[in-house]
Amino acid sequence: MFIISYKLPYEKLDATIELLAINDIYNVFYENPLEITTDNYGYGYLEKEDEEIILKVAFEGEKEGLDEFKDNLKAILKMDYINVEENNYDYTTYDFPAIHLDEKYVIASPDEEFEGKTKINFISQGAFGTGLHETTQDILKLILNTLDMKEKSVLDIGTGSGILSIAASMAGASKIVAVDIRDVEDEVMLNASLNNLNNIEAVIGNILDDETLVKDNFDWIFINIGGEETKMFMKYIKEHLNDNGNILVSGLVEWSFDEVKENIESYGFKLISKHQTNEWVTAVFN
Ligand SMILES: C[S@@+](CC[C@H](N)C(=O)[O-])C[C@H]1O[C@@H](n2cnc3c(N)ncnc32)[C@H](O)[C@@H]1O
Repeated sequence: MFIISYKLPYEKLDATIELLAINDIYNVFYENPLEITTDNYGYGYLEKEDEEIILKVAFEGEKEGLDEFKDNLKAILKMDYINVEENNYDYTTYDFPAIHLDEKYVIASPDEEFEGKTKINFISQGAFGTGLHETTQDILKLILNTLDMKEKSVLDIGTGSGILSIAASMAGASKIVAVDIRDVEDEVMLNASLNNLNNIEAVIGNILDDETLVKDNFDWIFINIGGEETKMFMKYIKEHLNDNGNILVSGLVEWSFDEVKENIESYGFKLISKHQTNEWVTAVFN
């Protein structure tokens, strides 16, 4: 496949995609010029509308037809491309660099090797949880190095790519239920199988609305969604934790941590440890 890139102002994006569609060219994609913002409780996103954008058009024909396709695009778009590259990867998967969590653990693709380190095999298909974010990294380090997961059952709320479930399984958890409101099942199961783990079950849906989705109780509940969502889930968490069970919570920002902590404590839990990287706080409650 060949990818032909064009640079254009953001406000021309919709009209350009429409123009291509009128000419039967649909294999078009772009990266959102998003700015990550923070609000009272955590993440937010702003589309940066004054930004230039890179629009990519995929050509799936043989190399011999490429010049004709480019001429056709020029006639339609009335502009020159900035780049053409051959890309034999599925563009719905994203390459990412190996992430060295610490001196013991690395997250990387199955074909890379790092001597002396334990590798978490990982292929991203776009869900949150590549290990790049501070919150994910802090939780992973705790699960892999510090917390007692041996023979414990785990509920991973907002599992995304499933990376926390995979770490829990590697750390000795007996059974993990990985839940998300988005359909991440394929990604979770792919990454579990890349690490030869078969004790992770993916559950997709809104567990707050549908009580039939998760019926068990657990020794650990992980939640890395945000402060507001943590508060929203607290009654559920209380009801689904075993006696003496623990909560591992992240995605909290330092300016609302105390408020979220008080909320968690109002359900009878005690803060055991608190960890912070930049503004992001991760905490364990019992
Ligand atoms: C910040 S990501 C965390 C991903 C991964 N657990 C990690 O720690 O890197 C939050 C995830 O929670 C999911 N999510 C948001 N609201 C949810 C809800 N009400 N129930 C279940 N999952 C939810 C999102 O789809 C997303 O995959």
